[in-house]
Amino acid sequence: MSQYSTMSRVKIKTITDLQKMKQAGQKISSLTAYDSSFSALLDQAGVDVLLVGDSLGMVVQGHSSTLPVSMQDILYHCQLVSRGRQQAFIIADLPFMSVATPMQAAENAALLIQQGGAQMVKIEGAKIEAIQFMVQQGIPVCAHLGLLPQLIYQSGKYAVQGVEEKAAAKILADALKVEQAGAQMLIVECIPATLAQQISEQLAIPVIGIGAGVDCDGQVLVLYDMLGISLGRKPRFTKNYMQQADSVYEAVQAYVTEVKEQKFPELEHSF
Ligand code: KIV
Repeated sequence: MSQYSTMSRVKIKTITDLQKMKQAGQKISSLTAYDSSFSALLDQAGVDVLLVGDSLGMVVQGHSSTLPVSMQDILYHCQLVSRGRQQAFIIADLPFMSVATPMQAAENAALLIQQGGAQMVKIEGAKIEAIQFMVQQGIPVCAHLGLLPQLIYQSGKYAVQGVEEKAAAKILADALKVEQAGAQMLIVECIPATLAQQISEQLAIPVIGIGAGVDCDGQVLVLYDMLGISLGRKPRFTKNYMQQADSVYEAVQAYVTEVKEQKFPELEHSF
């Protein structure tokens, strides 16, 4: 894939750009995206990373969890997002049971990259063998630790992770392991801010937080949450940017600015 879009010659961000941002202490802004219109808007508002998350199962498809989301769903939405993008880096989620073996993970990741236009795939949990195998095949991998929504039927509830000393030590150890296995980015979800800070400082790769405090290398939110259109209970770590904006574009710009200036998340959004 060319690193320049053919339409406008705008340079598409690469993993190297994101690594340089971490090194320079510049915060990375990320939002989920599921279609081409929002992808274009988010991209033009300056969002660095678009995540085609399996959260689409809940906010787009109306399921009560991310578990029903299939590879075909992610592939389809990734294609839509790729069409709207000009400069942002695109990560696609590997959905529930798409990574049961390292080979299955690599084959599914290849589909998202070759046919979906993703530049990186995201895998939930410290699945070290799958990460190592994908990286050996040349697939860029983002790991995801902390709260793992794909385990909701095992855990029973969406709750902050790594509060107890032992659990925190396990998340830190897993973070070091996924980096060692070759992951080039890490998302940490719903963990104490102090733990996320420790992880961000100890890892060389960019660490993006959601409900993980202000000291991560970047922030990600579910788009529909930050636009205030998700129904039901609002997670503590989200902020409705439409409350002080005249348009969706303005709301997204405000989010990007607050992430860059470390004004979001505040203590009230953190654990
Ligand atoms: O699926 C998703 O949107 C995610 C984010 C919450 C990180 O994994």
